[in-house]
Amino acid sequence: MARPTNRYVCQACGGSFPKWTGKCEACGAWNTLVEEAAPEAAPKGLGRASGRKLEFVELSGVSAKAPRRFTRIEEFDRVCGGGLVHGSALLVGGDPGIGKSTLLLQVICSLSQDTACAYISGEEAVDQVRMRAARLGLANAKVDLAAATSVRDIVASLDAADGPRVAVIDSIQTMYVDNLDSAPGTVAQVRASASELIRVAKRRGITLLIVGHVTKDGQIAGPRVLEHMVDTVLYFEGERGHQFRILRAVKNRFGPTDEIGVFAMEETGLTEVSNPSELFLAERRGDITGTAVFAGMEGTRPVLMEVQALVAPSPLGTPRRAVVGWDGARLAMVLAVLEARCGLAIGANDVYLNVAGGLKVTEPAADMAVAAALVSSLTGEPVPHDAVVFGEVGLSGEIRAVSQTETRLKEAAKLGFSSALMPTRRGKGGEDTLKRVELQHLSDLLPLFQPTRQIARGGRG
Ligand code: TYD
Ligand code: MG
Repeated sequence: MARPTNRYVCQACGGSFPKWTGKCEACGAWNTLVEEAAPEAAPKGLGRASGRKLEFVELSGVSAKAPRRFTRIEEFDRVCGGGLVHGSALLVGGDPGIGKSTLLLQVICSLSQDTACAYISGEEAVDQVRMRAARLGLANAKVDLAAATSVRDIVASLDAADGPRVAVIDSIQTMYVDNLDSAPGTVAQVRASASELIRVAKRRGITLLIVGHVTKDGQIAGPRVLEHMVDTVLYFEGERGHQFRILRAVKNRFGPTDEIGVFAMEETGLTEVSNPSELFLAERRGDITGTAVFAGMEGTRPVLMEVQALVAPSPLGTPRRAVVGWDGARLAMVLAVLEARCGLAIGANDVYLNVAGGLKVTEPAADMAVAAALVSSLTGEPVPHDAVVFGEVGLSGEIRAVSQTETRLKEAAKLGFSSALMPTRRGKGGEDTLKRVELQHLSDLLPLFQPTRQIARGGRG
């Protein structure tokens, strides 16, 4: 009999090689090859005779809308696109300790009010999960609890006639299928385990909630290798030291992907934050220099947040640029535009930028809020306290229009702001809920800060 051959699989990209090498030839990563048993060969002779002809249907047919289950945790339901679809597989990724187990325990306990639910933990013992449930005030929820890591056992339990309708697998990195030699947590095991579990879930119409840790050094054997197998991928993010947690949909076959859910981690678990703007602005003080309120959008929801900047003379030859919650390259661009197009001298200063509350902003619309915070810090003059700021900055310094202007303005008005520094309106429209200060060029921002002459390069004499 032929000796079973092993192969070496890159844990970063999944590339497979017959020999071990220090560097993966496919993705160039070092020391990522791990020995694994080769999978059984694909069936041979896929000729014309062996298959069955497919029955094609028309594209225009009517399909029933996917039935959904609601968790009653609104922030969660919204991120899922309006509840959990029957028979779908959902992956919740995030750093260890961010609160994934807590979130899913709360979700499953809430669902257990009207459907059979199971929580399968491969990380914690039954007692630990019970203790957590007690702490969350959920000890009486009717959830079937098990500590297990063998996919074979779990599949058998899910496949049983009296099996659960919704199941949590915490986490996929602890699960293993016994016909693979590699250790739990390797790409091969994570993939094989997930595909077995998803297969039975689809067949039985079970909604599967899978936890996946994002590993420290990038995405090795992390949720990335599973993203194509599941229907929905949610990432749970936040700074460990901060209270806020943000659940973000990055893939969703049953809904939009740009929604976020905001939670606060408290003594008694995660609580929903239905008005994030209020929360993110809660610690805002009066006229402080170097801050601006950005009227942003997260999915369909407007969210106001505070952008803070500190510009201080640098003792270093190469001044520091530090960014939290925004893109460093984007900061460099805004700084360059302020220097080159508005005549500000920032070059010799350290620049620190922070989005308060632990949010990560990706919208270009934040450019102008960042610029306003920077100019405010540089001039020592606060941005008008009652103003929100938004607008994209182009390389020539022009302020570009952004989407959802009216939604942003409405939210700002609702929270008591009375003016907005914003791009010029294209066409008419929109009621004047607050005073619009429309800017065409970034240099239009400077006269709003007095005394301007101290900062303009030419005015220094
Ligand atoms: P956990 O859900 O175990 O994280 P993960 O599953 O993503 O690894 O969350 C652990 C953290 O949450 C831990 O540091 C303590 C904190 N926590 C609270 O602050 N309040 C609570 O009620 C619970 C259950 C956890
Ligand atoms: Mg956990």
